[in-house]
Amino acid sequence: MEKIAFLGLGSMGRPMAHRLLAAGHELTVWNRTAAKADLLAQDGAKVASTPAEAVRDADVVVTMLADPEAVHAVVDAMAPALKPGAHLIDMSSIGPQAFAEVAAKLPAGITAIDAPVLGSVDRAAAGELVLFVGGDPTPVQAVLERFGRITRCGGPSTGSALKIVAITAVIVGVTAVAEAVKLADTYGLPEDLVRAALGNSPVGGVTARAFAEGVHYPIRLAAKDVALATGSAELPLARTVHEQLTRLADSEQDLGKVVAQLRHTAV
Ligand SMILES: NC(=O)c1ccc[n+]([C@@H]2O[C@H](COP(=O)([O-])OP(=O)(O)OC[C@H]3O[C@@H](n4cnc5c(N)ncnc54)[C@H](OP(=O)(O)O)[C@@H]3O)[C@@H](O)[C@H]2O)c1
Repeated sequence: MEKIAFLGLGSMGRPMAHRLLAAGHELTVWNRTAAKADLLAQDGAKVASTPAEAVRDADVVVTMLADPEAVHAVVDAMAPALKPGAHLIDMSSIGPQAFAEVAAKLPAGITAIDAPVLGSVDRAAAGELVLFVGGDPTPVQAVLERFGRITRCGGPSTGSALKIVAITAVIVGVTAVAEAVKLADTYGLPEDLVRAALGNSPVGGVTARAFAEGVHYPIRLAAKDVALATGSAELPLARTVHEQLTRLADSEQDLGKVVAQLRHTAV
């Protein structure tokens, strides 16, 4: 099996890296905050102290980082150390433009595919993510399948584009559910009745996401994703949702907590 380097051990990266170890891959990990690698080290991962050290012997390099700035910083640090013929899989949600910029920096002979995901920490742990893949996944298909189901989107960057399209619709939808619940409060309707009515309506899916348990997609990351969308097209609704999200008091809470936070916000 290929030697794999995994960089970015946040809420999503940790369970994903654990799946690679559990499948028997030789795994080297790196994270900016080193302590997040402790449990993986206990389970047999090698821990590198720099991105370059992490990727030196790797056939496949996976990045799962917060935003475009993080991916640029990590790729800048590791690119000179990449092994000729290595494959980089960027699974971060950074949008098509940033992915193309990152791919353009790689040395000749390194292939890059974008494979951002839908699904949160629960699905990451279960290997049930939806992977939006841009470029040809064939050489790294076995690695990608450890994480979930592959949707081939087209050429490079198309996975990053579809991810931002899909997540923007989800975020706007969850925010719409939050406003519906706030409206129901002003009418004095019981929450159970409102949740059931929304759940059985065409917005049932986003209602389920708004009240989901065991998920952790912080509002700060949702705001980042909507900003990637509004930076690419004129989207008045998404722009308004972005303003709402950035005004909320606790951006570390899961996106679903927009319901509770908007409910108790006067504006
Ligand atoms: N959470 C979800 O439900 C979910 C679902 C689908 C997709 N995603 C996407 O997946 C990606 C990762 O999400 P997450 O929930 O794992 O985020 P997270 O918990 O915030 O972790 C972010 C990771 O990026 C690293 N990082 C941030 N800035 C950096 C920098 N300047 N240099 C180096 N490393 C940096 C963090 O390192 P430190 O540990 O040192 O901070 C951490 O490893 C994001 O693009 C997110 O939008 C998330």
